[in-house]
Formats: sequence, C-alpha cells, structure tokens
Amino acid sequence: ATALAQQRHLAIPYGAAIRDGVIAEDPLYAQAVIDYCQVVVGEGNLKWGTVQPERGTFDFQLADDLLAFATKNGMEMRGHCLVWYAGNPDWVETIASAEEARTEMVRHIETVMGHYKGRVRSWDVVNEPIADAPTTGAVYRDSVWLKHLGPEYADLALRTAAAVDPEAQLVINDYDFEQSSDKGRAKRKAFLDMVRGLQSRDVPLHAVGLQGHIQGQIPIDKPGLTAFVAELASMGLSVLVTELDVIDNLLPGAELERDGIIAQRAKDYLDAIAAAKRPDMVLTWGITDKHTWVPIWFSRDDGLPNRPLPLDADYKPKALMDVIQDFCAE
Ligand code: G3I
Repeated sequence: ATALAQQRHLAIPYGAAIRDGVIAEDPLYAQAVIDYCQVVVGEGNLKWGTVQPERGTFDFQLADDLLAFATKNGMEMRGHCLVWYAGNPDWVETIASAEEARTEMVRHIETVMGHYKGRVRSWDVVNEPIADAPTTGAVYRDSVWLKHLGPEYADLALRTAAAVDPEAQLVINDYDFEQSSDKGRAKRKAFLDMVRGLQSRDVPLHAVGLQGHIQGQIPIDKPGLTAFVAELASMGLSVLVTELDVIDNLLPGAELERDGIIAQRAKDYLDAIAAAKRPDMVLTWGITDKHTWVPIWFSRDDGLPNRPLPLDADYKPKALMDVIQDFCAE
C-alpha cells in the first residue's frame, strides 16, 4: 500500500487513457487506475461522435462518469479531443461550406469546453493536424476542416477555445515525432512550421502533446527528438506525453525479451524529451494489455497477444511501468 501511495505522488503526474464502460464493468481495472494514476483521459468519451452524435444534440454522460470517478479519487481529467479528422459522426463529414464548418466548430467547442469549464484544465484542441507523409506535399492532414477552412481551421479552434476558458491549457497533439526516418524528420519540420505560423498570427497555444505511439522495431531518434522539443521549449511551449505505448507486432515473441525492448524504447523516448524539457505529465494510451487499441491495427503474425502497456492483461506491472515510475519520480 505504501508503494502504491507513493506512485500517486510522482513529481511528474502519470496517467492513462480510460476505455468507456470498463471502470464500471471490471473492478480490477478500476483499482489499477486508482493505484497508479494521477490523471485520466477518455480514450473516446469526448470525441465528437460520442459527444455530439446528431447535430445540436450533446451527450456528456460518458465523460461526466469518468470525471466523477476522477474527482472522487483525487485525479485530474484531460480533455481529448475537440477538432480531429477522425472520430466524427456522419453528419460532420457532410458539412458543405466554410460558413457551416465555422458555425459547427465554434458551437462544438463552446458547448463542450463550456460544460467542463473550470473542471477540465488541459485540452487537446487540435488533434493530429499533420499528414503522415508530409514530404509528399500534403503537409496538413486531410479533414472536413482543412477542406472548408484551410490550415487556419486550427487558428479558429484555438482562438475559440481560449475565449471559452482563458484558464485552460490549449494543446495540439500529434505523433511520429520520435521516428528517425524521413517520415519523422518531415513530420517534425511540418509541425514546427505550423506552430511558427500560429505564433506569428498570435494564436493562443500553450503546449504540444507528444503522443508517443512508438513503433517498437525502430530505435528512437534521440537527437532528433531532443532538438524538436528544445525548439518547442524555445517557443515558450510546454510538452506533455499524451498517448505513450509501444507497438510490438514486429518485436520478438518471447515475453521477457519483448518487454525489455519495449521498456528501453520508452526510456529512450522519455529521456530524449527530458533532455530538452521535462514533460508536464505522462499518460499511456490505456493501462493494461487487456484493453488496448494496438491489436486492432498491429496484431502479431504469430498470434501472440500484444503487450504495449505498463500492466499485463492480469494487471501485473511490467518493465515499462518501472521505467515510467522511475522517470516520473525524479
Ligand atoms: O464500442 C464499440 C464496440 O461496441 C464494438 O463491438 C467494437 C467493434 O469494432 O467497436 C467498438 O468501438 C471501437 C472503439 O475504438 C472501442 O474502444 C471503435 O469501432 C473504434 O473506432 C475505436 O477506435 C479508437 C480510435 O482512436 C478511433 O476513435 C481507439 O479505441 C482509440 O484508442 C484511438 O485513439 C487514438 C487517439 O484518439 C488519437 N491518437 C491515436 C490513438 C490510437 O489510434
């Protein structure tokens, strides 16, 4: 109990994405979250499709439930996410003009952030704005927002968010910054260009969410990642690790060996970030291998279960949990 109590007082708060409904269904899951987490975020409960499935009809039940659980257990809840290319209900994808896009985006942000004003401090306002292969030309990721409003859809989202809750931490959240390939370099450059543009237009932005869906078979580009975070820090921005996990479909099958590589990748990732700036918080995208998005897209050819998260499917802590706790304790 003492060790667990200490885990709740880490210098850098640790937390996890929570899957809808599982806290209510699975007491072991709920207990693991209570034991380890200082912060939670809904894996899907604040996505547009959940919150506003029909135009003008808002449903906060799932996110309210998680916030109640967090509050009761002394945790903070982050908001994920307000504007994204994915996770939208069909009606959003049929938006047909700039005016309609503007009206709906503003209404959504005002209503959702307004509902949680003063209760949710940190928001992923813009999620995944940069394309996967920005070298091929398309720097911004295609979306209904980009199509109608151009890249400055992000300006509108951030300005609206700042007006709704001037106290909130406004975050842009994206992935692949740790990759050493052309892909990683191009993503970092495109992202920095975007942030420079925002700042040149005086758009409010406080932090960058480094998702950290690490491809386990690729070593972390530590110098590249450190330089990237240093650049963000020099622009006055904080960083958060928002969605850490290690995708292990191409790693060896043997559990100990695999868990060791996973832990090392995460350590390299966290150390490379902290070499430039300590993150505000560290969240993994789930807490147990029992509930993870990874096998949906990255299942293993040998049929073995994926092990991307800090607790195994029986809630036993793995080497990845030690790495995170050591990092966050300092
Ligand atoms: O809830 C239904 C379930 O009833 C049904 O049986 C099942 C059948 O496929 O689908 C379930 O819903 C799925 C849900 O995940 C379950 O958690 C949705 O189809 C599926 O689209 C949804 O995927 C989520 C994905 O974002 C898209 O919203 C993943 O859980 C979630 O982990 C993933 O999270 C994203 C972040 O938001 C942004 N960064 C990357 C990250 C990983 O892809």
